[in-house]
Amino acid sequence: MSDVELVWPNKELQLRASGEAGYEWLSLGDERLCAKPSIERISDGRLTARTNLIAIGDGLDVLEALGARSPVLTGGVRLVYIDPPFNTQGSFRQYNDAMQRSMWLSMMRDRLAAVRPLLAEDASIWVHLDDAEVHRARAIMDEVFGENAFVASVIWQKRTTRDSRAAFSSNHDTILVYAPSGPKRWKTSRNLLTKEDARLRNRDGDPRGPWADAPFTAPGYRKGQQYEITTPTGLILRPPRGRSWYATEQTFLDLLADGRIWFPKGGDGSPRLKLFASQLRGLVPFTVWGATDTGTNDDAKRHLLAMFPGAEVFDTPKPESLLERIIHIATNPSELVVDLFGGSGTTAAVAHKMRRRWLIAERNPQTVLDFLVPRMRRVVNGLDPGGVTEVTSWVCGGEFEVVQVAPICGALPESARPPAIRRRWLRIEKLLSPAGGARSSSAA
Ligand SMILES: C[S@@+](CC[C@H](N)C(=O)[O-])C[C@H]1O[C@@H](n2cnc3c(N)ncnc32)[C@H](O)[C@@H]1O
Repeated sequence: MSDVELVWPNKELQLRASGEAGYEWLSLGDERLCAKPSIERISDGRLTARTNLIAIGDGLDVLEALGARSPVLTGGVRLVYIDPPFNTQGSFRQYNDAMQRSMWLSMMRDRLAAVRPLLAEDASIWVHLDDAEVHRARAIMDEVFGENAFVASVIWQKRTTRDSRAAFSSNHDTILVYAPSGPKRWKTSRNLLTKEDARLRNRDGDPRGPWADAPFTAPGYRKGQQYEITTPTGLILRPPRGRSWYATEQTFLDLLADGRIWFPKGGDGSPRLKLFASQLRGLVPFTVWGATDTGTNDDAKRHLLAMFPGAEVFDTPKPESLLERIIHIATNPSELVVDLFGGSGTTAAVAHKMRRRWLIAERNPQTVLDFLVPRMRRVVNGLDPGGVTEVTSWVCGGEFEVVQVAPICGALPESARPPAIRRRWLRIEKLLSPAGGARSSSAA
């Protein structure tokens, strides 16, 4: 426990989502806190340990409505990535980004605290922010997960163009990374980055898959590694002057018999060692991530516009290549990824393409209708050639469900809702129907 603490007005209260977009402070004795938010509607009525889920509602309500024993949370959450409103005091097309600071802080603390007991053993939590609140968010994360859970703050280059009107042209966001098991332990289970120079190819149709290659030589003179190698074309080779073969003759013969030696130049060249992906030691990620590797907000906008031509797309969507890197580092296939601020659905789309399970909460039903559901429908049906489709070798398949969660504060009974709100769910259902094409029979 730290001996310093960030304090703010009403810190001792709970902040609950109220109605469609507001929040309400509740004291700990408020009886509404005894109520469980309810799942009001569900696309086909079944939630299982294999369900990918879009939940329409506030993230905290969604977690409580599902409950820790929900089959959807089986195995625990391996990765939480959240890209909440940054509290820039601006207003974007799809959501308002101006909250009282105290509300914003409680909103973040309560959602992080709610997700904590649902985490798997080697989980990590990645919180994406900018300079408006990142320093205060770090104090909150220290409070919820402990200072020792801090792993890194990643600087992501979000744009490559310059804003000449500003004092400084800010071109980065910060992503705070925490692992409750601590960085030393988490390091043993996170994935390294694939070596960029290891261009894997399958030049001999090896059934084990593509491979990179390295010279079969080692520096210096080693007596046991000086022998003759006969190439497939009959040339007799000795190690170059001042070098030795990479291994002893017996090891060479074993590798040759196992198809792990490659002779370039049509069989005339010096032997090379074949290295499959699992044998290549990857790279420890840096904390500064450039636009070339992980894309920019503008790349993400272009991708959204390709999917939804003419739409008023999000102002700051995140590119799929950024999420691909995060999900690669923090999870393995079939593990669960959670995003409590779904937006246009980047996390869901990338998790799906990377064969992870996913749970996404998004509070604005119109965003779910206009972006999240149709985007995921495209991914499932193999109709999104953009983003990381190629690098993840995604074709099509899998499925997802949609639920709607009623808040414990300010929920209107169905009969009192404006017809427009009721019509929205009908339109989501229509998108999900077989004719709408959200499901695919072939699993990914
Ligand atoms: C910055 S955007 C997320 C963008 C997303 N990462 C993407 O790439 O498209 C934040 C989203 O969080 C949603 N949101 C805001 N407050 C929320 C809450 N309490 N629960 C769930 N979603 C919320 C907003 O409607 C908005 O769509």
